[in-house]
Amino acid sequence: METLVSLCASRGFIFPASEIYGGIAGFWDYGPLGVELKNNLKALWWRRMVHERDDVVGIDSAIICHPRTWEASGHVEHFSDPMVDCRTCKRRFRADQIEGERCPEAPAKRAVRDCDLTSARDFNLMLRTDIGASVEEATTAYLRPETCQPIFSGFKRVREAARQKVPFGIAQIGKAFRNEITPRNFTFRSREFEQAEMEFFCHPSQREDWFAHWRDFRFQFHRDIGFDANLLRLRPHASDELAHYARAAVDIEFLFPFGWQEIEGIHDRGDWDLSRHTQYAGKELAITDEETKERYTPMVIETSVGVDRTALALLVAAHREEQLEGGETRTVMKFHPAIAPIKVAVLPLSKKLAEPAQAIQKTLRRHFNTFYDDAGNIGRRYRRQDEVGTPYCVTYDFDSETDHCVTVRERDSMSQTRIPAEGVLAWLRDRLEEGF
Ligand code: GAP
Repeated sequence: METLVSLCASRGFIFPASEIYGGIAGFWDYGPLGVELKNNLKALWWRRMVHERDDVVGIDSAIICHPRTWEASGHVEHFSDPMVDCRTCKRRFRADQIEGERCPEAPAKRAVRDCDLTSARDFNLMLRTDIGASVEEATTAYLRPETCQPIFSGFKRVREAARQKVPFGIAQIGKAFRNEITPRNFTFRSREFEQAEMEFFCHPSQREDWFAHWRDFRFQFHRDIGFDANLLRLRPHASDELAHYARAAVDIEFLFPFGWQEIEGIHDRGDWDLSRHTQYAGKELAITDEETKERYTPMVIETSVGVDRTALALLVAAHREEQLEGGETRTVMKFHPAIAPIKVAVLPLSKKLAEPAQAIQKTLRRHFNTFYDDAGNIGRRYRRQDEVGTPYCVTYDFDSETDHCVTVRERDSMSQTRIPAEGVLAWLRDRLEEGF
């Protein structure tokens, strides 16, 4: 992880937010490569979950919801972690991090009796803010701890506007905030992060079938973006670890260097959310089946993936240190081409060839994210692209002037192919989105 964290900062994938002030725990900035990686991931999710389906529509809702939303959802009452304060070290810990009578920050030589711990108290994880110009008018509101609640409160409006009939789903990608007591493992547990969530509304008799459908559909998505089968597993929740809204849940877990951890949750939320919003807002959210005239509150199957956690898993899975013949070590990020931040680098062999090379880049950049590099020897330029995971480099050399061909160098095999310059766009297109 240490090597990866430092590569992420130096190459501009991810670095601490407010870095010049010493950072702020649990908050991260994405640099020029990180934002491309995350945008690619979100675009593939949106395509698979919304554009390619007739039964799912998308929304983009406000981050701040009416405060009653979080009473209805159960977050005001239930969304907390038990925590313990150490009066000696002046730090706060999750109760499950405390072993015996000492806190994790205590110096090894300190006697156990010198750690002065409080008993465990519940600490609500929602981040609060005040709305209103003056203190008297201020209303306490929360930055949403999950993106899905506006999907439930907007259910009737969206269903009618999109002329959808149950079964159907509503999807959204956006920021969520949790005042995590101990943010850790790089971006894995952050206080500000993005979720891509989809809430699928169905008849009570179809719950189990849709749960199985979405579990398998989402697992396949993770395989398609490039995770090997041995890095992924499904872990059903035991009944005593279910969230307050869930009747059943299965996590999709990824094997991080710090162990198997959840990157996505598939939840059967039953009618918890629609029934609670009906009760708290006083607005009926049940529906009538046009054919059978049955009136019922739809059940919800949820797919909820962390964009940042999946981006971190993509970085972990892609990162390699390869020993080459001659003893050289090559650092390479083996991203699926559809995920790679830069799709193709255009490299003129000499600065004298800038004009025709830039003409090729101009054509390609209308279709994918490209990079132009004419600095240093060609081997070093290939290595720089390997380090950031660029799947293809197109080299324009002096022969290109007469044979009108370019060399395409492939990242993983390092093989080189000579192809006509005018066919390079089609050649790349065929390969960049394989499997999507
Ligand atoms: N709406 C359901 C829900 O929010 P969750 O299991 O609490 O369920 C879903 O969160 C996903 O959001 C997780 O699988 C994880 O990928 C991501 N996530 C949750 N807390 C996070 C945190 N503190 N930092 C980064 N990602 C987080």
